[in-house]
Amino acid sequence: MKPIQWPNGFFIEQLQKNHNRTAFHSGVDMVDEWLKKRAHQAQKKRLSITRVLLKEPDTIAGYYTLAMGQVNFDELPREMVRKLPGTLLPIVTLAWLGLDKRFQSQGLGKRLLAQALADCHHTGQMMPFVAVLLDCATVYAKTFYQRYDFEELPGHPMTLMLSWKLLDRMMSG
Ligand SMILES: CC(C)(COP(=O)(O)OP(=O)(O)OC[C@H]1O[C@@H](n2cnc3c(N)ncnc32)[C@H](O)[C@@H]1OP(=O)(O)O)[C@@H](O)C(=O)NCCC(=O)NCCS
Repeated sequence: MKPIQWPNGFFIEQLQKNHNRTAFHSGVDMVDEWLKKRAHQAQKKRLSITRVLLKEPDTIAGYYTLAMGQVNFDELPREMVRKLPGTLLPIVTLAWLGLDKRFQSQGLGKRLLAQALADCHHTGQMMPFVAVLLDCATVYAKTFYQRYDFEELPGHPMTLMLSWKLLDRMMSG
């Protein structure tokens, strides 16, 4: 996949302590609270990594958080796990993703998601996992993700999944 093209003045980097998080407002409180209060702590503890989309000089336009995880094989679609062992299976969680309201509806959410998935794909070349999972904060967010081939986890309407197979196809196309 080609590198994500950001408009002039935008760039991605890992969340740092000195990034100004106080002004970030996505319109969904828990998405804001995570970035402001917990993302950096979780990163220091090696539980997750957050990358921010910065607009120069010091504005966080958006962010996403990725973490490793596990899911029981019987929670995944049956056709996907047919040939897999009946154990806990490795996954990546797209734990959070959000754009500040000032930057929404300009195509940046789509690019931020593409960047997060490119990171997942890069990781998956060296650390295998079977799928990317995410919990939708709102029905609005669910509609957004479903545009990009995420499918519902059986019995969990607000949890979506993208298999490694589909991710790999997406990134190779
Ligand atoms: C969800 C979110 C990231 C989308 O970002 P965005 O920048 O507004 O989206 P984009 O402008 O890139 O839109 C991409 C496409 O999805 C569509 N779209 C965006 N949000 C949509 C929604 N909720 N439902 C349906 N379609 C949506 C756009 O029309 C656009 O379509 P197009 O490519 O055909 O033009 C953003 O609205 C947001 O941060 N929301 C608050 C936080 C949140 O809900 N996070 C996700 C849960 S953790």
